[in-house]
Amino acid sequence: KIALAAHELRVPAFLIGGFVRDKILGRRTKDMDVVCVGDGITLAHQVAAALGDNIPVSFFKTYGTAQVKWHEFEIEFVGARKESYRRESRNPEVVAGTLEDDQNRRDFTINALAVSLREADYGALIDPFGGIADLDKKLIRTPLEPAQTFSDDPLRMMRAIRFASQLQFTIADDAFKAIQENADRIRIITQERISDEFNKIMLSPKPSVGLDLLYKAGLLKIIFPQMTDMVGVEMYEGKGHKDNFYHTLQVVDNISVHTRDLWLRWAALLHDIGKPATKKFEPGHGWTFHGHDAVGGKMVTRIFTKFKLPLHDKMKLVKKLVELHLRPISLTKENITDSAIRRLLFDAGDDIESLMMLCEADITSKNKSKVKRYLENFELVRKRLKEVEESDRIRNWQPPVTGEMIMETFDLKPGRVVGDLKNAIREAI
Ligand code: CTP
Repeated sequence: KIALAAHELRVPAFLIGGFVRDKILGRRTKDMDVVCVGDGITLAHQVAAALGDNIPVSFFKTYGTAQVKWHEFEIEFVGARKESYRRESRNPEVVAGTLEDDQNRRDFTINALAVSLREADYGALIDPFGGIADLDKKLIRTPLEPAQTFSDDPLRMMRAIRFASQLQFTIADDAFKAIQENADRIRIITQERISDEFNKIMLSPKPSVGLDLLYKAGLLKIIFPQMTDMVGVEMYEGKGHKDNFYHTLQVVDNISVHTRDLWLRWAALLHDIGKPATKKFEPGHGWTFHGHDAVGGKMVTRIFTKFKLPLHDKMKLVKKLVELHLRPISLTKENITDSAIRRLLFDAGDDIESLMMLCEADITSKNKSKVKRYLENFELVRKRLKEVEESDRIRNWQPPVTGEMIMETFDLKPGRVVGDLKNAIREAI
């Protein structure tokens, strides 16, 4: 029906991208991408009309794409285009182009395969970059210079690793090197898009493959530093303790054999989070982890099972949990300072209520006096919270410096670092 509609409109149309790749690999397919040399929106309407009455078409005019929902299928129509990205912008400039232009702008050779829906060569495979050979070789390779591909869209660094983990493919050496060199550019990508790729890695058959690649590429240090803090076996007076990072990956793989539940896999990933910051070496004893009760997994379980929130909101809470998770432990200390309590409140920001619930899940210690102290300090936090909410001063308070002042003082261009500096000033004050 798509081919007929395209023929009637006299626009050359092709199936392209992930759908073609997955069909060839024999994977389950759902979303279909159709590229046409012409107007994708018109083609989408023609196809919807051919498929039946009241088939919904939704479209994004700015991107010139349209989507048709048909049973469980989502068919996306787009006019072939050239894209040119500017270095400081996430949004490409889009210009109409040929099929070849469109294949050129794609991320990997295995994602640039097209199948013709034209009458003259219906079903022909158009594979300009050797994508089929790469599928055979199980290789992730970029059609253009890797540095260009990744700098056009830095999310592709995560995608390369995600595909390697999902499909159990290898990333070509030059591509991996380019990822290592460009890793820092991941900072321009939004948290949501990074989480989506990260979760696809978590759901892959052996998540350790992707997680280890993220680490070796230098991406993990940027997107999830608390994980890389766990790397390394430390030796002191001849005594080492296990590498918490690789131990964690092993635990994630072990659990992944038994479950496809994202939250269980996350619980495994975070079960030791925060250990490094609490470790101590004691002569005669070796390494111990002070005040650390390995509660990460428990809290993730709570977030995923008790909170009725969309996945992205849950991920935000998980992130917060990772960032804050040593703070609740500070509540077990005998002499907790007022400023530690204020910090807990300040850092928790808008999620304070949820975090309070999480804190309650943190009481895992068998040491009674520690638990008692914890509860007392927890009450103190609650009291403090009431005061803060009444005045609402602390959370909304901004330091008396503007972004402009920071840029001028430190001779900086607009960018993330300006925000980071402002936050640092705010915290320091
Ligand atoms: N694409 C790209 N660069 C990106 C994202 C997507 O070049 N950053 C292209 C690829 O050709 C990809 C197609 O757009 O095959 C569709 O993208 P998407 O639906 O996000 O991914 P799929 O490859 O279909 O894989 P999956 O469905 O597993 O996400």
